[in-house]
Formats: sequence, structure tokens, C-alpha cells
Amino acid sequence: MSTRRPRETEQPGDRTLEVGEATALLPALRMPEERATVLRVDSVTCWFGDHCVLDRVSLEVREGEVVGIIGPGGVGKTVLVKLCTGLLEPDSGRIDVLGNELGRTGQKDRQRLRERIGLVFQNYALFDFMTVGQNVAFPMLQRGGYTAEDVATRVQERLTEVGLPKVQHLMPNELSGGMKKRVGLARANINDPELIFFDDPTAGLDPVTSSKIFNLIRLTQSHRNSTCVVISHDIDRMRPACDRYVLLYKSRVYFEGTEADAMASEDAVVHEFFRKNEGIGA
Ligand SMILES: Nc1ncnc2c1ncn2[C@@H]1O[C@H](COP(=O)(O)OP(=O)(O)O)[C@@H](O)[C@H]1O
Ligand SMILES: [Mg+2]
Repeated sequence: MSTRRPRETEQPGDRTLEVGEATALLPALRMPEERATVLRVDSVTCWFGDHCVLDRVSLEVREGEVVGIIGPGGVGKTVLVKLCTGLLEPDSGRIDVLGNELGRTGQKDRQRLRERIGLVFQNYALFDFMTVGQNVAFPMLQRGGYTAEDVATRVQERLTEVGLPKVQHLMPNELSGGMKKRVGLARANINDPELIFFDDPTAGLDPVTSSKIFNLIRLTQSHRNSTCVVISHDIDRMRPACDRYVLLYKSRVYFEGTEADAMASEDAVVHEFFRKNEGIGA
């Protein structure tokens, strides 16, 4: 087996999706206020030792929205994702995910809820001892109840969707960084999750490849009208993917709104963050 790393441009079906192309595929969405609330974080506080990482944080994400969570490094973005997926418990406050209050769900219900949620962590690496196809199939096999044919068909569909129709039999170490992220995206979508969290999905990628990934996030979201929470410090690249933003700063929700709202704001921190994200040391 070749150990040569294929370049992104060598892959059949691998092409940059234009922003207009992605957004044209968006289904006719209802007005935001008419859509169901998929995620509600209500006055959540989280301490680590004597450090209050999140202080009465509240936010809401509605069906079909892509919400960007931005903020400096170490502000608590990953902690927030862990709280919303039940991997961490808040010290106070309430979190409702897909109509379930997390604090009140038992082990079994939580497991069922997790199957409706997709997670793409920065370090949620592919298993290097499995082929790409086996990696993408993994969450589907874990859930169970599918024939081998169902699994193979869906894996092929999801890989084609991210522009990698012919990599099933490769090993992860034969892929470029951008291709690995695409495979991660295909894997996150395999069970058709209603809500997906992306924690720094373009970490370590060059700007061009990062843009492709954010466009793909938007495209795959619009295909199935899933709801996405995207965490990144790469505001320039994430713009085409996000409908609106939540800026975490000094343990609080410092700003919430669209990019136009941010530009209309007179707040220097908001401006600085949207103008040039490295301004606050992301
Ligand atoms: N398990 C943990 N134990 C102690 N401190 C933690 C733990 N997880 C995160 N922290 C602290 O919480 C803060 C926020 O971390 P994190 O959510 O990873 O930031 P980021 O916004 O960069 O994703 C950091 O100060 C980090 O050190
Ligand atoms: Mg983080």
C-alpha cells in the first residue's frame, strides 16, 4: 500500500464549494422565531477549583441554525460543548437539548440523546488502525440494527457528500490534514444527527483548506437542515458557515448577534474580535 500522501487537488470529486452554491441549497427556512429551540443554555455556571470558567451563560439555538461560538483561547468554549453534550455537569443552571433537560435524563435516555447529536472535536482523531470506511461506519455500527449493505451504502453516500468518493479503503495516515477533517465530517453525519457540535473543526489547517471545510459544514447542514454549533477562532473563514455568533469573553456571553450586529456595535471588544480574531489572543 502506498504511503504517499495524496494532495487535496488529486481527489476526484474534490473541489471547492462556492459560498453561493452552498447557500443556494438551503431549504426555504421558516422565520427564526417560528423554529423549535434545539439547544437552550440557561444561566449555566461552571467552576474548576477556584476558577469560574463560565458565569451564568445563557444562549439559545434554533432548528436549522448554524451558530458560531467565538472567544479567546481558554475562555470556556470547549467546556461549553462538553456541558451541552453531557460530558460535564454544570455547577448551576439548566441545559435543554432536543427537548430534554440534561440534568434530569438518566443514563439510558442520555445515551439515546447522544445518538441524535454529532460531535466533531479538534482532537477527535480517526482511528489509525481502521480504514477510512470503517471509521465513518463506526457510529452506525455502535448504534446497531443495520445490515452490512445499509452501512456500506451510507458510508459511500457520506464520503461522496464531502467530496471523497474513493477513499474508503485508504488508511487515515494516507490522507492529508484537510481530507482527515472531511472524513471526520462524514463520520459525524453518518447517523443523521439533528444537532452537531464542531469544536475547532479546522485546527491546524491552512486558510484555503479551512474555507473548504467551513463551506462543507454549511453544505452538509443545508442538505438535511440539521442544527450546528461551530466553535472556531477563525472568524474570517467561518463567516460563510454561520448565521449568527455568540462571543464568550471573561466567562460571560459578551455579545450575541449577526456579523452586521457586531459591526453596528460600538463596543471595542466586539469590533476587535470581528475585525481581526487574533486581536484578543485566540
Ligand atoms: N477538566 C478540567 N479541569 C480543570 N480545568 C479545566 C478542565 N477543562 C477545562 N479547564 C479550564 O477551563 C478553561 C476553559 O477551557 P476550554 O473550554 O478548553 O477553553 P477554550 O475556550 O479554549 O476551548 C481553561 O482555563 C481550562 O484550563
Ligand atoms: Mg477549545
